[in-house]
Amino acid sequence: MKRIVLLASGSGSNVENIANYFKDNSLVTIASVFTNKRDAKVIDRCNRLNINCLFFNRESFSKSDCLLNIIKSMDPDLIILAGFLLKIPKNFVTAFPKKIVNIHPALLPKYGGKGMYGMHVHNAVKNNNEAETGITIHYVNENYDEGAIIHQAKASVFKEDTPEHIAEKVHALEYEHFPKVIDQILSN
Ligand code: GAR
Repeated sequence: MKRIVLLASGSGSNVENIANYFKDNSLVTIASVFTNKRDAKVIDRCNRLNINCLFFNRESFSKSDCLLNIIKSMDPDLIILAGFLLKIPKNFVTAFPKKIVNIHPALLPKYGGKGMYGMHVHNAVKNNNEAETGITIHYVNENYDEGAIIHQAKASVFKEDTPEHIAEKVHALEYEHFPKVIDQILSN
């Protein structure tokens, strides 16, 4: 049995998509979802899906080993950042080498780094008149969005596309690719 832990800060549509993908797979289980936002929609989704979802505060994550020890006790095979917006501290990167995977809503190394998340990314892509955008699934290291790339997928951006259209295309790519890539990593 493979155990995954997910960290999310927002709506959690990727969490739901991943949960649905694995729901009939008896070899993979979601040990828990963790969120740093008390009012994140992901909490409602997890309640509806009957998935354990725990809130943590920033200090327990960034300034101590508190959350690290809780997650270690769950013995995860993979920690998945599904719309998680805090920087991963060094103690996590050291404790879980090649076991923390992030999805970023752009074609890294473009549009990565601090402050580049969600609609900020799609607005920047639009403002720069990019002809394409996409997703990047990558391992997490100590720097924002700089870990080794595992998988990328692209979508065209047309002149008439708004940032919201771009967001929709990127989400569609995320839903299609992220669970499959997680599945592949777990199988290796
Ligand atoms: C996703 O598009 C994900 O790629 C992005 O946040 C969104 C979360 O959506 N992550 C980042 O921007 C990380 N830098 P969701 O909450 O509906 O899954």
